[in-house]
Amino acid sequence: MTDYRRLIKEAIRARENSYAPYSGFFVGAALLAAYEKDGEPLIFTGCNVENAAYTPTNCAERTAFFKAVSEGVRAFRAIAVVGGKQGALTDYTTPCGVCRQVMMEFCSPDTFEVIVAVSEDDYRVYTLKELLPEGFGPADL
Ligand code: THU
Repeated sequence: MTDYRRLIKEAIRARENSYAPYSGFFVGAALLAAYEKDGEPLIFTGCNVENAAYTPTNCAERTAFFKAVSEGVRAFRAIAVVGGKQGALTDYTTPCGVCRQVMMEFCSPDTFEVIVAVSEDDYRVYTLKELLPEGFGPADL
């Protein structure tokens, strides 16, 4: 269904804007909406944005989600994530627990796909349910 390569490419590009002077760990994400716009995939990108006070730091995935939701989009199919120290991408970066919980708020655990990538050709795909089993979400309230 999804053009994983396109999404990974967008995540790699988004990583260029990563603001990570404290950790030196640069992350990019590209979030695919559940519907198209003008016949084109609707994609929201994000990067991590760190802060001198540390805790206000926002992960790349949440940046992408909050951009989308603030633009009125709440239905999603997949997110691609790339991260690593400056320079070449060498390892898969899986979303932190807080980001998984944010995904749980807007996405179906069974069908939402999380693509963790090192390159356009080297990636793994998980469902949200695999990354957050027995998650607590809107359906539980
Ligand atoms: N980070 C993300 O943006 N996404 C992840 O999936 C893992 C962690 C960021 C937060 C912080 O700026 C840096 O990476 C190191 O934890």
